[in-house]
Amino acid sequence: MDKFVVRGGRPLYGTLDVSGSKNTALALMAAGLLADGKTTIRNVPALRDIYTFSRVIKVTGAGVEFDEADHRLEIDGATASKTVAPYELVKRMRASFYMLGALLGRFGKARVSLPGGCAWGPRPVNLHMEGMEALGASIDLEDGYVVATAPSGRMPGGVFELNPSSVGATINLLLGAVTASGGSRIDNAAKEPDVVDFCRMLQRMGARIDGVGTRTLEIEGVDALSPVDWTNSPDRIEAGTFMIAAAIAGRVGETISVRGVNIDHLGKPFMDAMKGTGVGLSIDGDTVAITRPTTLKPISVRTDVFPGFPTDLQAQWTVLLACAEGNARIRDTVYLDRFKHIPELRRMNMNAIVMDGEVVVEGGRQLSGAHVMSTDLRASVSLVLAGMVAEGETHVLRIYHLDRGYERLEQKLCAAGADIRRVSYDEWADPEME
Ligand code: EPZ
Repeated sequence: MDKFVVRGGRPLYGTLDVSGSKNTALALMAAGLLADGKTTIRNVPALRDIYTFSRVIKVTGAGVEFDEADHRLEIDGATASKTVAPYELVKRMRASFYMLGALLGRFGKARVSLPGGCAWGPRPVNLHMEGMEALGASIDLEDGYVVATAPSGRMPGGVFELNPSSVGATINLLLGAVTASGGSRIDNAAKEPDVVDFCRMLQRMGARIDGVGTRTLEIEGVDALSPVDWTNSPDRIEAGTFMIAAAIAGRVGETISVRGVNIDHLGKPFMDAMKGTGVGLSIDGDTVAITRPTTLKPISVRTDVFPGFPTDLQAQWTVLLACAEGNARIRDTVYLDRFKHIPELRRMNMNAIVMDGEVVVEGGRQLSGAHVMSTDLRASVSLVLAGMVAEGETHVLRIYHLDRGYERLEQKLCAAGADIRRVSYDEWADPEME
């Protein structure tokens, strides 16, 4: 098993490059399965979740080729025939549940394992299943699998309102609706950039979707979709992570460039919060220049669905607040209990307390290195950020969580001045007894 050993106090400088979006790429890959031919997706990040989902898609018999150096992934749906997504793979990555919509949309039937929970609590899929039933599928549960069939082998279409507005459920229902025999409508649909880009690719493939980017999606089913050559968006969460890193670990008064950012994908609340801290922030095309100020102002935030402050950046924001002068708080309205990183950060001398569903952070205390445990993807990266500004050495354990969602993270950060070493270790070795 691997860990990161992070030596704190090394200032960042220069440029940090953003890779393609993990969450968007996963949806685009599912769309590739809908076409009877070879779809190419460019700017796909080389990280674990992409490999995992590639294996899930290959189980159907579809071809999947990933040129990781070129970040180009090809899916050949022509050879797909098996309508199954097995537990052994789905349990590793929740987005594998997109196979429900992809297989129903392509073949009119699916046997997909229910995804497990995750580190910070249950991640229900009730909206996915209720929605598919509303679109005309019959859904049964057998031995931990969802067994779905469309009458006479094709989804009829229907109307469903999402409550809450779910990114994954919106994507899954679109996968089942675009080739339905009739029309469909999704109310209170998610409008995250991942969903918008996914809709644009489906439209290019021949899907008929109105209302893209709004809460109401109207879909007119078509008989078949065509393969497409599509370029994935940059990862907005990695971009936000790097902007926060620059704000806390850059040299005061020196500018760090975060390159390959789509500013519109970060949303105004996040950009306003960044500016509110007092950082210098300028935008030139797809490059954001961040200049660390003498002191960071403590800006409280509450996460929300897009265009709100992203829940996937709240753990990272906690570390920024620890580096600010004064107290502030974070409330996550998307995942009310997504605070598994707080006990680990407290081990690093952070004064952060979770109470009444929010975390209150006292800024201005010097963090100190410690052994800390990754619990989920975004919590892990907050531990790396904390290690970069802490005194001494921080060992971030179980970084397989990180490898799921960040491409070459240590290489990128070390090229910009950080001191991070990937070290393998035995999780169960007994500590040297004094
Ligand atoms: C996507 O997860 C992302 N994952 C998550 O990113 C992200 O945190 C989340 O959206 C919110 O933005 C991918 O895109 C692969 P949701 P998803 O369904 O689709 C509730 C990361 O770090 N809900 O929008 O699973 C749910 O409990 C990951 O990259 C139901 O109640 O999120 C939550 O409160 C972590 N029933 C809310 O909706 C359902 O059937 C939003 O969840 C589905 C969801």
